[in-house]
Amino acid sequence: MKSLKIAVIGLQFGMAHIEGAVSCGARIAAICDTDADHLHAAGERYGIPAEKRFSDHRALLARGDIDAVVIAVPDQQHRALSCAFLAAGKHVLCEKPMALTCEDARAMVRAADTSGCQFMVGQICRFTPAFERAKELVENGTLGELYFLESEYAHDYMKLVDNWRADPLRHGVIGGGCHAVDLLRWLAGDPREVFAYGTHRLLPQVPYDDATVAVMRFDGDTMGKVFVSTGCKRDYTMRTVIYGTRGTLICDNTSPSMTLFTAGADGMAHEPEIISMEVNNHNAAREFAAFADAIRRGTPAPTDAREGAKTVAVCRAIIESSETGKPVCPEYSF
Ligand SMILES: NC(=O)c1ccc[n+]([C@@H]2O[C@H](COP(=O)([O-])OP(=O)(O)OC[C@H]3O[C@@H](n4cnc5c(N)ncnc54)[C@H](O)[C@@H]3O)[C@@H](O)[C@H]2O)c1
Repeated sequence: MKSLKIAVIGLQFGMAHIEGAVSCGARIAAICDTDADHLHAAGERYGIPAEKRFSDHRALLARGDIDAVVIAVPDQQHRALSCAFLAAGKHVLCEKPMALTCEDARAMVRAADTSGCQFMVGQICRFTPAFERAKELVENGTLGELYFLESEYAHDYMKLVDNWRADPLRHGVIGGGCHAVDLLRWLAGDPREVFAYGTHRLLPQVPYDDATVAVMRFDGDTMGKVFVSTGCKRDYTMRTVIYGTRGTLICDNTSPSMTLFTAGADGMAHEPEIISMEVNNHNAAREFAAFADAIRRGTPAPTDAREGAKTVAVCRAIIESSETGKPVCPEYSF
């Protein structure tokens, strides 16, 4: 099978994508970063020759030796770069969050539709071993019918917000919280309504709340909760608890085990099963494999443009609710 020829744009988190793509047998046709030091460092680290290093993404648009691009630049630029590469006939794997506004997400859905190319959003939690297992246990009925699930995104951004992350549009709920929102959507579907409170105590340098709690209602009266804290004093976690009529699962993307309670014949939960788990919360290799697979088969990527846009819609609804004090129904018509 022919190797995919890819370009990686944005070379900080983008480095994980270089490694992920190479481990899947893709060839790095180009790397690009506006920062000369970052470009040089990535080029040297991965042995990419000078003629494949670029400081301006526009130089890549017309190149015939690139099949697909990975876009790992600040969120504010996802729309412009994704639309430009889709229009140029390149498949796009764009970092999460797909966009910071529903308007940008809508424009990207249109661009993906008209391009005939694959567009995938890097919602990497769908490739995290613990969450893949959780999805399996939900789908195979081990947990029964879900009635409540919660996930938190707790990550101390104290040293991460002196840059594009301090933009009011890049609220913590969409910047990092999109991981927990997308996880709940993947497990339970699209929430019909959300209601949220926020508070601002820990990061005075950002113009948005640094902690938000949102409750939500899914179809079938399943309830959900997302907690986002970007100033928390603890290690990074995405602790997730899924309650079903037959069992309960407690898992985390940073823990080497998960705890599964299931009801016995008497309807009671007995000793929990402790399931060992590989910790890999940035599984760029499996994410890239899914992207490459969609390209080869011509089938939609797991988080295609509409999936990415719906997660943006829920995040924006949570932010709106926390600002207005009113429940909000996310708008999914992308
Ligand atoms: N999936 C995850 O868990 C995860 C983790 C970290 C970051 N991200 C996402 O990845 C993206 C990048 O985040 P980061 O932490 O690497 O940010 P960063 O600010 O550390 O690095 C961004 C890089 O992009 C470069 N850049 C900026 N504009 C550019 C342009 N127009 N063309 C080429 N290069 C450009 C910068 O010089 C810098 O090297 C963001 O969308 C972020 O939300 C995702």
